[in-house]
Amino acid sequence: MLKGRSLIEPEDFSLSEMEFLFSLAEMIEKDEKYLRNSLKGRLLATLFFEPSTRTRLSFEAAMLRLGGSCLGFAEPGSSSAVKGESLADTIRMAASYADAIVMRNPKEGAALLASRYSVVPVINAGDGGHHHPTQTLTDLLTIRQLLGKIENFTVGFCGDLKFGRTVHSLAKALARFPDIKMIFISPQELILPEYIKNMLKNQNIIFDERENLEKSMPELDVLYMTRVQRERFFNEDDYIRLKDTYVLNKEKMSAGKEKMIVLHPLPRVNEISVEIDSDPRAAYFKQAKYGMYVRMALLASVLGAEDVKY
Ligand code: NCD
Repeated sequence: MLKGRSLIEPEDFSLSEMEFLFSLAEMIEKDEKYLRNSLKGRLLATLFFEPSTRTRLSFEAAMLRLGGSCLGFAEPGSSSAVKGESLADTIRMAASYADAIVMRNPKEGAALLASRYSVVPVINAGDGGHHHPTQTLTDLLTIRQLLGKIENFTVGFCGDLKFGRTVHSLAKALARFPDIKMIFISPQELILPEYIKNMLKNQNIIFDERENLEKSMPELDVLYMTRVQRERFFNEDDYIRLKDTYVLNKEKMSAGKEKMIVLHPLPRVNEISVEIDSDPRAAYFKQAKYGMYVRMALLASVLGAEDVKY
């Protein structure tokens, strides 16, 4: 049963529950009328305490396409957080007005806390440098759609692996699929947090940490590029020094497999040159679209739309 459930970390859903969401998303993609009015009269609160384009708009588009409505705020400045209201109180209020809450917050653990004060499902749209489970659903659906399966792949993660919450969530999720090898490519200062590495070690996942992107290219089936997370740095000089460590360009792409795909949660800054956009292996804009379909599947499921039976 997905009805009434919150999604805070990727492990909150079982593999078969995720598979169910992917199949539902695929059905919606094939027939955009499917589930069209299934959430008529229902309300989604989108509480964004941090900037967002894709995540917020794709959740709102998903809810509207399902016939529901949205309310909320896109920046904390327009909420009572600026008056000093606690997150717990904001959530209690939102839960009494809406049928589900999507929240992004700069503090790690905020989504879990919110779920404890909410009587309606809470969906984590990013909690600081911690997790971003609906981006993971998007990433996995994209891999499945474009490569036909989620197994027996070498996945390279490149960029800010320290603060990149999409990396943390995707690495944890991929560890549950068969025969996935991971290569983590970053400068020394931005390596993957110890707790994720320990989790991978405990599950006997094969992974490697490197600094060089070029040399790793020929091995990869999926390359997951990320932006250096400026907002999480304590020091602007460090950001400026590290921000352009990796720039994926035509030359580097020429060393990649013909069937490799390049993903990026977006927004990109400089890490993928625009000259790559027309390469058939560049999948990041398709990925953004899959994000809407999988969020439609998720909302229809947690809000218990009539036609959705899990
Ligand atoms: C990501 C995020 O917010 O973590 N964006 C997104 O949701 N698509 C990645 C990022 O901001 O770099």
